[in-house]
Amino acid sequence: MTTSTPFFGTTFHVVTFGCQMNKHDSERISGMLEGLGSLPVNSIPEADIVIYMTCCVREAADVRLYGQVASLKNVPLRKESPLTKRIVAVGGCIGQRDGEKLIQKLPHLDVVFGTHNLVSLPSLLGEAIADCGHHVEVLDSANSFPTELPTSREHAWAAWLPITIGCNNFCTYCIVPYVRGREKSRAMDDIVSEARSYVAAGVKEITLLGQNVNSYGRDLYGEPRFADVLDAIDATGIERLRFATSHPKDLTDEVIGKFATLRSLMPALHLPAQSGSDKILEAMNRRYTSAHYLELVRKLRKAVPDIALSTDIIVGFPGETEDDFQQTYDLVKQVGYHQVFTFIYSKREGTPAASIPDDTPREVIQDRFDRLVDLVQHQAFERNQADAGRTVPVLVEGASRRDARLLVGKSPKNQTVHAPIPQGTSAESLAGSIQNVRVDQAKTWYLSGQVVR
Ligand code: 5AD
Ligand code: SF4
Repeated sequence: MTTSTPFFGTTFHVVTFGCQMNKHDSERISGMLEGLGSLPVNSIPEADIVIYMTCCVREAADVRLYGQVASLKNVPLRKESPLTKRIVAVGGCIGQRDGEKLIQKLPHLDVVFGTHNLVSLPSLLGEAIADCGHHVEVLDSANSFPTELPTSREHAWAAWLPITIGCNNFCTYCIVPYVRGREKSRAMDDIVSEARSYVAAGVKEITLLGQNVNSYGRDLYGEPRFADVLDAIDATGIERLRFATSHPKDLTDEVIGKFATLRSLMPALHLPAQSGSDKILEAMNRRYTSAHYLELVRKLRKAVPDIALSTDIIVGFPGETEDDFQQTYDLVKQVGYHQVFTFIYSKREGTPAASIPDDTPREVIQDRFDRLVDLVQHQAFERNQADAGRTVPVLVEGASRRDARLLVGKSPKNQTVHAPIPQGTSAESLAGSIQNVRVDQAKTWYLSGQVVR
């Protein structure tokens, strides 16, 4: 069957930048290429076909992509390759944004595709293999939700399940709505049948994905129905359920209540605050106040006192004063997060914030950033102390990359947990199982303990 495809005997490698949605798209790409007879490999020198799934949310990822693709010119094709030259493709958000321009800047690039046409990738690559020419396809929007593509999952026991694509929120700093398009919700039946197939295949954890999962269904039913999705997925019998990302303006009491009532919903929530200053939140077009955000936190903790909260914070948004920053610092302090992803504002051409003048010196912003990081680390350490001495069920991922004698896995609160591999077992045999670990030590970024059997 596979011998007739231009991919027979080839190898491929996917390099992924950015968010979980990109990681999931990369799994779909791997699934399609494996189905066509190409073999996944772990490094670029071994790969006949290299695909970059790109991110343009911040400038650093942009610069890195251009640098990496440029340096590929110097990596020779493996001797056994059936191809005459390595095929290089760039997709995802930079592909969508830059299209043809990428080929002008990087002439050895063969294929460019956007965020709406993953399904076209095999034919674009096939054409490039056949004629060694450039093939670019970037569509303005998705015709339908790409549900039928196969996936090759990184872990057999964990699956990402997209429920929406795109975003309608237009936060003023953010490029995502321009490169991912308008929000589209997937049909509930589709979502549930994919979840059921995962449960039947032994998957233990499903993470529902969307730029703003809380507005799921607004385009289909005229009102958000995310709480219904949670009910339906819980009813499939999945062991662990998570979701990302939530927008505070759309997080309803009903969804908060699900944390208390649904068996499978894990006690962890990523709720990006971005800032604690109402002036900056307004300039960001976030459409909530810090008081509203704190009220959500109060309700979440009332529903599940021990819930682990994480957030995203942008430091140095144009016009941010020391007083604005102090309000962000105070909000972070008040909430007491398990984890905070801190970003320095990065100007993205084409977004409204890019035209807001700002003369705050770089050192001032860096100093704010450093102070926030200190607080975040201190808080993460404090939060984790609450679990010292407790026994927590850990979904085992395998052996730790840093120390092969240790298992690594995730607690319900999404903390990384390490424990020595019990005698008579192996990391491979325990991967994908849930083991109880008695926590002896709680550090800033992980817990460690012993498996109790
Ligand atoms: N600059 C810095 N951080 C940004 N993010 C999005 N756009 C920008 C930008 N222009 C951050 C937000 C978002 C996370 C995924 O990335 O905090 O929640
Ligand atoms: Fe970007 Fe805001 Fe949409 Fe998130 S909600 S993807 S930050 S525009």
